[in-house]
Amino acid sequence: MIKRRTLLTGGLALPFLGLVGCSRSSNEPNPYMNANYGPVDVESTVTDLKVTGSIPRELIGRFLRNGPNPTGEIDTGSYHWFTGRGMVHGLRLNDGRAEWYRNRYVGGSQANTNVIGHGGRTLAIVESGGMPVDMSYTLDSIGENASIGTGYTAHPKLDPDTGELHAMCYDWANLRDHIRYVVVDAQGEWSDETEIPMPGMTMIHDMSLTANYAVIYDLPVTLSFVALGTGASFPFRWDDDHEPRVGLLPRNGAASDIIWSPLKPNYAYHPMNAYEDVQGNVVIDIVRYERMFDQDIRGPFGDSKPRLDRWTINPGTRTVSEQIVDARPQEFPRCHPDLNGKPYRYGYSVAVEGYSFPSIYKQDLQTGHATQFDMGAGRHSAEPVFIPRDTAQAEDDGYLMTYVFDENTNRTDLVILDAKDLARPALAQVHLPVRVPYGFHGNWVPDSTTAPA
Ligand SMILES: [Fe+2]
Repeated sequence: MIKRRTLLTGGLALPFLGLVGCSRSSNEPNPYMNANYGPVDVESTVTDLKVTGSIPRELIGRFLRNGPNPTGEIDTGSYHWFTGRGMVHGLRLNDGRAEWYRNRYVGGSQANTNVIGHGGRTLAIVESGGMPVDMSYTLDSIGENASIGTGYTAHPKLDPDTGELHAMCYDWANLRDHIRYVVVDAQGEWSDETEIPMPGMTMIHDMSLTANYAVIYDLPVTLSFVALGTGASFPFRWDDDHEPRVGLLPRNGAASDIIWSPLKPNYAYHPMNAYEDVQGNVVIDIVRYERMFDQDIRGPFGDSKPRLDRWTINPGTRTVSEQIVDARPQEFPRCHPDLNGKPYRYGYSVAVEGYSFPSIYKQDLQTGHATQFDMGAGRHSAEPVFIPRDTAQAEDDGYLMTYVFDENTNRTDLVILDAKDLARPALAQVHLPVRVPYGFHGNWVPDSTTAPA
C-alpha cells in the first residue's frame, strides 16, 4: 500500500542561505539536477514491501537517510547540491520483516545533510548555522531543537565510551571570527563548549575525535564575500590565500592549546576514522580532493575526484606525513561505530564514477587490500553504513546497508550485504516502489537506542 501526499514547497531558509538569486547561469545540464539527483516531491508511506533474500532477524530499528531536494524557485543551471530542502527516508525492519518505508520533508528548517538517533531522539542535522530538527519515530518533524545550541554540524562524532557527541560548529552568518566546539552528553543535552578563534570562515564539514584530541580541519574553502556580493546561493569558494592546516585540540583543553600542523592544499569533507598510534602520532584516514569549488560551484565532483589518504600527524614536530591509501575515486567513508577514534582495520566507502556510485569498497587498512561489491548494470549505491552483528567476534562481522538506485526501473532498493565477505550476493533486498534520490548521510538507528514513542 502506498499513501502519497504532495506538499507545497519553497520559501525556505536553506542552510547555506536565505539569499535568492544565482551566481551564474548555464545552458549545460546541471549534473546535480539529473537522474537520481533529481528531486522527489511526494511524501510516501509504504507498508507492504517486497523482499528478496532474508533480512537478519536481529535488525530491529530504522535505516534513516537525509538528503537535499531542489524545490521552489531555483535556477537549474547554477543550483548547488548542498542547498536543496532536506528529506528524510526511513525504512523500519523488525524480526526479519520490512514493516514500512516513509519519506518526509524536514519541516521548517534547513536540516538536509544527516539524520541520527541520540539521547532517545531522532534528529535531522546540518552545518553552517542550521538548527537540528527533532523528528518523531515515524519521521514527522516536531520542531527545532535548541538544547544542542544554535547552529550545529552534520557530522557530530560519538564517543563510544561515554555516549557523548562532539561537534565542530561554524556559522558563517553569525560567527565570522570563531567556531564552537560543542559537547553534548549521552542524554542529548548541551554539556560543554569551547570557542576557537579562526582566520576567515572555513567550511568545516566534519571533525575527528581520538583518545586525547578533537581534530579541526581548517582547509582552503572559505566564505567568499565576492560570491556573497553577487548573490550566490552557495557562498563558499576555493581560497589560495588560506593556509591549509589541521589542528589537535586536547580534549578538555583550551583553544590556546591547539597543535596546528600545515598541510598541502586540499579539501576534505569526510575522515574515515582517526586514532592515536603507540608512538602518540595521530593517524587520520580521510577522503581528500585536490580542488573544491574553484571552477565548478554546483557540487563536489566537478573540480577533482576524491581519493583516500592517510595523514600521520606528529604532535611533537607539528608535521604531517601524507600518503595515498587508495587513489581510486571514493567518498562517504564509514567504519565500525564502536571503533570511532580508536585503532581499526576496516573502512567502507562508495566508489565515485563521474557523478554516480557504482560499487562499495571495503578497505583493509592493515594489508592495504581492498575488496568491492559491484551494484550491477544501471544500479548506483550510496553511503554504506556498517552495523555490527549482535554476536560479532571480528571487526568486520556485521552488515553493510545502503540504498541502491536502479535506473532500469527508476526505483530504489535497500540492500543488506555481509560486510565480512563482499563476494557474497546481497543477504537481502527490500524493493521500494519509489525512488530515493542520492543524498548525503544516514544511520542505522536500532530501537534499543531510540525506541518507538
Ligand atoms: Fe558529509
